[in-house]
Amino acid sequence: MQTLKLKTLPLAKVTAGALAFMLSSGIGVSVNAQTRTLTIYSGRGEKLISPLLKQAEKDLGMNIQVRYGDTAELAIALVEEGRNTRADLYFAQDAGALGLLQRRNLTQAISPNLLNQVDARFRSPQGHWVGISGRARVLNYNTNLVKKEELPKSIWDLTRPQWRGRVAWAPTNGSFQSFVTAMRVLEGEPRTLQWLRAMKANGTKVYRNNTTIVEALGRGETQIGLVNNYYLGNFKKTNANFPVAAHYTNQDAASMMNIAGVAITSSTKQKADAERFIAYLLRPSSQAFFAKETNEYPVVSGVAGPVNQVPLSQIKTPNVNLTNLHDLPGTLELLQQAGVL
Ligand SMILES: [Fe+2]
Repeated sequence: MQTLKLKTLPLAKVTAGALAFMLSSGIGVSVNAQTRTLTIYSGRGEKLISPLLKQAEKDLGMNIQVRYGDTAELAIALVEEGRNTRADLYFAQDAGALGLLQRRNLTQAISPNLLNQVDARFRSPQGHWVGISGRARVLNYNTNLVKKEELPKSIWDLTRPQWRGRVAWAPTNGSFQSFVTAMRVLEGEPRTLQWLRAMKANGTKVYRNNTTIVEALGRGETQIGLVNNYYLGNFKKTNANFPVAAHYTNQDAASMMNIAGVAITSSTKQKADAERFIAYLLRPSSQAFFAKETNEYPVVSGVAGPVNQVPLSQIKTPNVNLTNLHDLPGTLELLQQAGVL
């Protein structure tokens, strides 16, 4: 039987008539004809990554179909769908969600050629997910109201009377919750609970999200905030004199580098295509795209980091296995127990 390979022709473009002809004429439509569409579940926003995906379709000669959603919600969907999922690849905004799927045996090992391009901190030790860009937790502070010499060396300093009513956080934010999960892994439940309670007792102000914290810092409404690194970059782009700067603590959860990253589903029939796509995301041009568009850190060495950000080499990240940040329910419970949520 002749096998017709539709290398450059996505299935969607094969008309019903042509398909009927192929079938009736005994030309076998190979499995390949159906596998030219790579299906991605993406926790990364459409506005951000659709230009990159359009370019990838052209460069790789494949169709890419995307289901967009919130990272945690898509992880739940993938768990519910199990091996019946349509997804070939999951693009998460947080390593914890990737770790969750790995633990449920819903991911598979990625080729070492790809994994080895990325710093070991930013990929699964079992090889089941790989970071695409780095997102740092950081303290942002108002440079008029906080003196450099009083900046905290550890997150515990923020529980001291000196910082009463001067600190901001966003407990409903996913990145904040990942930070708390990291703290649980690094310091244990009792100490994390103690820290949360002490922060609350110290009058830490609640904000809706990271953007509103950085805005409030700019107005001087609050003085120091627990946020992610890339927000400040956006404010600095529009106002170079925006009076807020970044400060990293020394190897605790407040200076954790999380990742946005990808995993290949265990049920995919398109592992090769999924890996070609991952290779594409690790290309210098794609790495530079994330640094420029999102102020995130490249995970492949030799690619310039985001402008107006502390160089990655100067951030003393804690030694935490990001795969272990999977227990979001445990974190939510602890936040409730502390009266923070
Ligand atoms: Fe964010």
